[in-house]
Amino acid sequence: MTMADIKYIGVDDLDIDIFEGQYPVKDGMSYNSYVILDEKIAVLDTVDGSFIDEWMDKLKAVLDTRKPNYLIVQHMEPDHSAGIARFMDEYPEAVIVSSMMAFNIMKGYFNTDYADRRIISKEGDTLSLGRHTLSFIAAPMVHWPEVMLTYDTTDKILFSADAFGQFGALSRTGLNIDEARRYYIGIVGKFGLQVEALLKKAAGIEIKAVYPLHGPIITDELPLLLDHYKLWAGYESECDDCIIAYTSVYGHTAQIVRMLASEIESRGRRALAYDLARTDHSIVLAEAFRAGTLILASTTYNTGVFPAMRSFIDTLVEHGYKNRTVGIIENGSWAPTAAKVMKAKFENSQGIRFLENSITLKGGISSENIEALKAMADEICS
Ligand SMILES: Cc1cc2nc3c(=O)[nH]c(=O)nc-3n(C[C@H](O)[C@H](O)[C@H](O)COP(=O)(O)O)c2cc1C
Ligand SMILES: [Fe+2]
Ligand SMILES: [Fe+2]
Repeated sequence: MTMADIKYIGVDDLDIDIFEGQYPVKDGMSYNSYVILDEKIAVLDTVDGSFIDEWMDKLKAVLDTRKPNYLIVQHMEPDHSAGIARFMDEYPEAVIVSSMMAFNIMKGYFNTDYADRRIISKEGDTLSLGRHTLSFIAAPMVHWPEVMLTYDTTDKILFSADAFGQFGALSRTGLNIDEARRYYIGIVGKFGLQVEALLKKAAGIEIKAVYPLHGPIITDELPLLLDHYKLWAGYESECDDCIIAYTSVYGHTAQIVRMLASEIESRGRRALAYDLARTDHSIVLAEAFRAGTLILASTTYNTGVFPAMRSFIDTLVEHGYKNRTVGIIENGSWAPTAAKVMKAKFENSQGIRFLENSITLKGGISSENIEALKAMADEICS
């Protein structure tokens, strides 16, 4: 799976339930780490704290009797950096190669920034290993400030840190665009500008393969993944599907959502409805970014909006959701307020176009509601 002198020493985490404290990963997660065996030996990143022994065993097996010269730390998030102290204890001759910002963060985790055993590198600096020459590329906020990618100028491999990663253990999944999207939108989505800056740098170099810190190595599928990254980083939709995110207590809002979905489908467009109380929000979030139109349907709740909808819209806005069409459906038996509250949440979002047609249910579904529903479907599909 890797070039002959580049070895994979990462691990699969099949016990993990949620990644980064919030993303369910039913197929587990991989923490990738690589060794470049050259005249000098470089190890790229470590793994999560639960797997340091396994990682160290793999490293030793690959090294045989040799000793590593460099530990390149591309990203200080603990799922990759937890093994730093163990590595440095095990190999007292080795030095860390990383950005200054990473060394600052390192001090916070390990009470040392290895001041006498380090090489501080910045964008454009190179490190020769013999056959391989590595060059470093700053990628601030993809998705922490200290991130530095490594480009192997010899074999044209981009070691991409958390960029181009995905959920899922390597033993369970290959490239899966849905999981790459859910990973990107959830973890990196807020930083589209910074990802665009990185894509620009990547466009200027020849890349034969991408070796990320999560998920599979990307070779033949790189153009496909890059095309998606361009859309995601630019906050552009991938299609004109209509996503309907809803909450319902007694089922009336759910019922009008089903009716709207079938009206939209009968007009030749795809409509997918998600119950926000029963679907993980990272899935709905990624769907909202994938599609051009989003309908939000919520019950009024204590003069506000239902909790699952409230937190979903907060998540959308926090991830920089923009440049989309949004439609609103509310339900309230005595004083419906959900529509107003939902709309107000997008106050500071850019490029949100609200549908002219909205729908207010006062409990059940009235004949006016049916008319409004058809008008809304017409407007969505026009
Ligand atoms: C806990 C709770 C709080 C509610 N608060 C309000 C409210 O502040 N204003 C209002 O008009 N309706 C309120 N309602 C009524 C619901 O909006 C109403 O029952 C609606 O029809 C529910 O739609 P559903 O059938 O899709 O669940 C509340 C309902 C519940 C269960
Ligand atoms: Fe990260
Ligand atoms: Fe990561």
